[in-house]
Amino acid sequence: MDFEPKIITFLCTWCSYTGADTAGIARLKTPANVRAIRVPCSGRVAPEIIMRTFDQGADGVLVLGCHVGECHYDSGNHRTAKRIPILRSLMTFTGLEAERLRLDWVSASEGERFSRIVNEFTDTVKQLGPIRWRVENSYRPYTSQAYTVGNTPIIPGLLTKTKRMTDQISELNPQITANIQSTARELLDSGQVTCVIGYEIGTHGRTRPAFVHSPEEAERLVWNQDCTHNLTTYLNDKLTTGSNGGTRQPIGIVVKPCDSRSINVHLAENRYNRDDLHVIAVSCSGIRQGAGTTAPTLSTLTTYQERCLSCSQSEPAVYDTYIEQPRGID
Ligand code: FES
Repeated sequence: MDFEPKIITFLCTWCSYTGADTAGIARLKTPANVRAIRVPCSGRVAPEIIMRTFDQGADGVLVLGCHVGECHYDSGNHRTAKRIPILRSLMTFTGLEAERLRLDWVSASEGERFSRIVNEFTDTVKQLGPIRWRVENSYRPYTSQAYTVGNTPIIPGLLTKTKRMTDQISELNPQITANIQSTARELLDSGQVTCVIGYEIGTHGRTRPAFVHSPEEAERLVWNQDCTHNLTTYLNDKLTTGSNGGTRQPIGIVVKPCDSRSINVHLAENRYNRDDLHVIAVSCSGIRQGAGTTAPTLSTLTTYQERCLSCSQSEPAVYDTYIEQPRGID
C-alpha cells in the first residue's frame, strides 16, 4: 500500500486561508493528506509549534503566509522568512530532513498556486517516507537476550550491588569492548595518537570517561549500556589549547553516532584539525535511562534514555574506525 503522509498546513487567515478557499471554489484538486490549521499570521507559527507538530506525528509541515510586503501585521511574515530557513538547517541535527518543512506565500486570489504548492509538497513528503524521528511506543524494553549473561538470565531485583550490575551489563558487549581495546592499543603502539579518550568502569562501578596514554592501559576501555557521556566535549580542551603534552598531538576518541555529529559541528567551526583526530565510532542502539548518573534500578534498566527514543542515528556521521554492534543485541 502506498504511503499516505500526514501533512499539517498552517494557513494565515488573511491570505493563504482564503487562497485555499479559492482553490476549493474553483474545484482544484488537493490531496486529502493535508490538514489545515488557520492562524492569524504566519508569524504566529513559532519554531516550537513546528517541532511539536513533528513530535506528534506529522510527516510534513507546510507554512503558508501572505506575500512579503503584504502581511496584515506589517512584519509578521518577515520574521517567518528568517526563522524557517534557520529551523530547516537545525532540523537536520535532530535527524529530520529539511524537506519536511516548507514555507511559501499564497495570496487570497491564488487558488491555483495553493493547489500546486500543496501537491508538490505532498509528493516530496511521500518520497521521503514516514517520519522516523520518534518511536511511537516510548517504552522500549530490552530484549530478554540483552538480560542474559551466557545462559543465565539477569534478575535485576537480585542485583543490588552497582558494580556487579554494571559489570554484568558491560559483558553484554564483550566483542565491541575487545575491538575498542585492540584499536586503541594499535593506535598508541604505532604512535598515531598520544591519547585515546574512551570509557572505563570507575571505582564505584559506574562507567566514566577514560584517558588512555599507553598500549598497556588500553585494557581499561569498555563498551556497555552505561556509555552515556559525550566524550567530544573533551576535544576542545585537548586539541585546541594543546594541553595534550603542551603541543597539538593527535588523539583517538570513542564516539556514539549521535556524538559523532558534534565532531562535524566542531570541524565546521574550525575548533581543531581533522588530521589531529582518530575517530573510533561504535554503532549504537540506545543507552539506558539513568546511565552513568545513578545506580541502575529495575525501571531504568529496562528503558532507553529519552534522547535515544527519538534518535534515528544508528550510523556515525564521521569515523576512521567503525565498530559495528553484533546482531542480536538490541
Ligand atoms: Fe498573513 Fe502575516 S498576516 S502572513
